[in-house]
Amino acid sequence: MTDVADRILTSTANGVMTIRMNRPDKKNALTGDMYSRLSAGLDEANSNDDINAILILGSPGSFSSGNDIADFMQIAMSGERENMSVFGFLERIIQAPKPIVAGVDGLAIGVGTTMLMHCDYVVASDASLFKTPFVDLGLVPEAGSSLIGPEITGYHKAFSLLVMGEGFSAQDAKDAGFVTKISSSQDLEATARQAAEELASKPQQALKLSRDLLRGDRSDVLARMREEAVLFGQRVESEEAKQAFMSFMQKGVKKASYTHPTPKPECFGVI
Ligand code: COA
Repeated sequence: MTDVADRILTSTANGVMTIRMNRPDKKNALTGDMYSRLSAGLDEANSNDDINAILILGSPGSFSSGNDIADFMQIAMSGERENMSVFGFLERIIQAPKPIVAGVDGLAIGVGTTMLMHCDYVVASDASLFKTPFVDLGLVPEAGSSLIGPEITGYHKAFSLLVMGEGFSAQDAKDAGFVTKISSSQDLEATARQAAEELASKPQQALKLSRDLLRGDRSDVLARMREEAVLFGQRVESEEAKQAFMSFMQKGVKKASYTHPTPKPECFGVI
């Protein structure tokens, strides 16, 4: 089991802050504490003038299995919605002032997929699976994905991903527009790191102006994220959701079918 303090690892080199989700025993399911640490990493990257780009990684075979369902259950039973630090993380990633590259190998479930819609450059291995089973869990889409999802992919692909909960392969995700490049699992981190370092070495003022032009005003995405958050908080406490969480925790849930097709490397590299 990974130590709580080690579940989010950060390191800096060549103008890039790497933020790694590191809870492989739970397929990088994200707890409240992990969201707080992700937020702290983003804050540090944004306030440090030596950092020009952010690289988000997971573990071999698991980018993230989404929000920790035991955490959801705990919130559902206690009613302590204000403790959902996921929303602080999402606000930061939506408004991120510096470019974010993500490297995805394997599972990208729930917020593991929706956070990618706010990244600037996403490299996915050909062994990746993107899936957002919000409705099956009695929930609604989050991270502003109900607005930005249809904008990126078109309505019908967004519906199949965000409402039907269909699994997308790396190629599907690239065709849908939220993956930039596909690599092998072995090359994934090097490819993603290369992109982040390339961004970090560009003329920074020109990069910032250009990125801001492309991303435009994010206030509508932020407003939608907050609207979704109200519904999401209510849904977490609904009977539909409680039953789905219980079913998962009792191992009765119909899971995303996923087998990583390639032997997992021991470790991808730095942190
Ligand atoms: N929350 C809490 N625990 C999770 C988790 C999650 N989101 N995803 C995986 N885990 C845990 C499992 O309970 C299991 O724990 P255990 O070893 O103590 O029994 C461990 O991680 C390994 O997962 P397992 O289900 O055995 O692996 P798998 O390869 O067969 O399936 C998934 C992986 C991700 C497809 C499956 O675990 C799953 O569907 N998880 C739920 C994903 C989800 O709905 N996330 C919320 C989206 S809003």
